[in-house]
Amino acid sequence: MALALAFESSCDETGVALVQDGKRVLAAPLYSQIEEHRPYGGVIPEYASRAHLEKFTLLLSQILKENALQPGSIDYVAATTRPGLVGGLLVGYQSAKACARFFSVPFFGVHHLEAHLAAVTLSGHVMPYPSLGLVLSGGNSVVYRLSGPGKAQVLGDTLDDAAGEALDKAAQILGLGYPGGPKIEEAALRFFESGITQASQNNFGDENPFPVILKSLPRDKVQFSFSGIKTSLLRLTEKLNTQDIDRLAFFFQERVIQHILQNVEHALWQNKNLPLIAAGGVMANRLLRERLETLCKKYKTPLLIPEKKYATDNAAMVAAAAHLYFERGLVSPFSQVTASNAFP
Ligand code: KG4
Repeated sequence: MALALAFESSCDETGVALVQDGKRVLAAPLYSQIEEHRPYGGVIPEYASRAHLEKFTLLLSQILKENALQPGSIDYVAATTRPGLVGGLLVGYQSAKACARFFSVPFFGVHHLEAHLAAVTLSGHVMPYPSLGLVLSGGNSVVYRLSGPGKAQVLGDTLDDAAGEALDKAAQILGLGYPGGPKIEEAALRFFESGITQASQNNFGDENPFPVILKSLPRDKVQFSFSGIKTSLLRLTEKLNTQDIDRLAFFFQERVIQHILQNVEHALWQNKNLPLIAAGGVMANRLLRERLETLCKKYKTPLLIPEKKYATDNAAMVAAAAHLYFERGLVSPFSQVTASNAFP
């Protein structure tokens, strides 16, 4: 049995977790900074770092109160070291290093995107290799071919914005609030439930005022782009009338999901029979999950998605990723803090 203490501070969630064998979460208190950043419609890096600094102590005391941890009871400590907002990453890194020193145990620096993918082990799955990894978050939209811990070949990345970033910006343009992904999802659902008939549903393709993203992307290419559709939204909102908001959210979300599915299909087509892990905050979207399931069934590919509570940033997934190295006796190649999302 191996017990890990893990820290997450790459963006606007402050998390500490106590996880056994990379899969059994004993405690995972999480502080969401959403309210701090809401007035600005996005994350203010300096405010995020300060909040991490304050909240880590509180979350750690909460864990210590409920679990009698002594030197000898922890086997390793982990923290996210990349990619992310550097100020926040440094706070998590220093806190974790101090704990590793206190418990006299090894420290594992964790790649945030590998952690998102490793979150599937928290629901009992064994991390599959080789496999495909799709990460859709506020800062990244990327498809990897995974061959082992720390071994991820980029099959396709974004040319501009990330999927979550596009949803956040769209929600801001439409005045729906922050964070945008869930707000767009709610508005789209409101529109859908406001009496769309099956007949009009079949015509969505024609009715959608947004262009199809990268329409002629060749089948052997995986490439995301979300900035064009954001510009289209800005144009459309110039003549906005309030009853259009939910409708625009609905069609915007449709195009974003369609683009994601097109890219996943290209990756599946090139890498037949590899299981797909789909992770990151955007995977909390119900429609996207459902459509991805249908696509993977078509390709007879197993699909692994982290449980919803571990889809957005949290520290349990950091412990899960560190465990991939610990159980194999590997040293993590991510020991230093950097904003870069590069794999070795
Ligand atoms: O992975 P995550 O928690 O943090 C980053 O590492 O970025 O992802 C946050 C992103 C945000 O852009 C947020 O709007 C999006 O995930 N998100 C969603 C949903 N819930 C969160 N996007 C679509 N639908 C959702 N239900």
